[in-house]
Amino acid sequence: MGRVSGRSCIVTGAARGIGRAIGEALLDEGADVCFADINAGQAQQVAEANEARARQAGGGVTHAGVDVTDRGQVRAMIAHVVERFGKLDVMFNNAGINSPMNFLDVTEDNWNRIMTVNGLGCLIGMQEAAQQMIAQGGGGKIVNTASVASRQGFDNVAPYCASKWAVVSLTQSAARDLAKHDITVTGFAPGVVATEMWEQVDRDLMNIGAAERPGQAMEEFSADILRGRVATPADIVGTTTFLASRESDYMTGQIVMIDGGMTL
Ligand code: NAI
Repeated sequence: MGRVSGRSCIVTGAARGIGRAIGEALLDEGADVCFADINAGQAQQVAEANEARARQAGGGVTHAGVDVTDRGQVRAMIAHVVERFGKLDVMFNNAGINSPMNFLDVTEDNWNRIMTVNGLGCLIGMQEAAQQMIAQGGGGKIVNTASVASRQGFDNVAPYCASKWAVVSLTQSAARDLAKHDITVTGFAPGVVATEMWEQVDRDLMNIGAAERPGQAMEEFSADILRGRVATPADIVGTTTFLASRESDYMTGQIVMIDGGMTL
């Protein structure tokens, strides 16, 4: 019996990186998992690559193509999961984007894109998951991906920081509003995790002259990390499985920092 056996979970932004690792760890602990992503083809490939893993632990796996900023698509994803697994127990709002820009150059377009995916996308995911959980009679867990950027400012990423602070306040506010439905809302805040997201960050930082070569930003961050290295997605998933499991039932409104001590 796994730690999340029989629990039906959705992970958004699960075609790669942290989201994929969250989904795979849930599968290892017996959950039914939907890998959801705007990149529908890659989400499908990931789901197919994990069929044996799901069988081995006694769970099921599916995928959904979804833009988390589109309420209709989010509804369709949840309906698909309910049809496939019978219910929704755990919703991970993990999809996110970053696009560094010098503060004085930040445009409305840059602000709107980042706030829409990271902020509005999280809100819609929480609302639609909660509606489903309430319709099932209450109970369930929502887990949001925040960031060290929701705890302090960083150079050249003002809209990203603002969007991740929004994730924290949404987590705390929804924890209050949804408590009466026995729904808990938590989040986790990674530090620097080596994923493909950093390739975009590198390109943008080089464009604005804030980095000279790929990898420089991650390297500079590592100096501040007490654990002495950046994280890999594997460093994150012990906590995320815990937040999806009954072991965390008494927690709500909390953000767990998983940053190797970089914000101390
Ligand atoms: P990633 O860029 O490797 O993966 C993000 C995934 O989200 C991609 O598969 C992408 O297709 C998907 N996505 C983007 N926009 C979407 C949308 N509108 N609808 C549905 N899916 C969408 O990023 P990574 O590193 O795995 O990040 C995952 C989460 O963790 C993000 O919320 C990010 O902000 C957060 N995070 C990442 C850190 C890092 O160092 N990598 C540190 C702190 C937080």
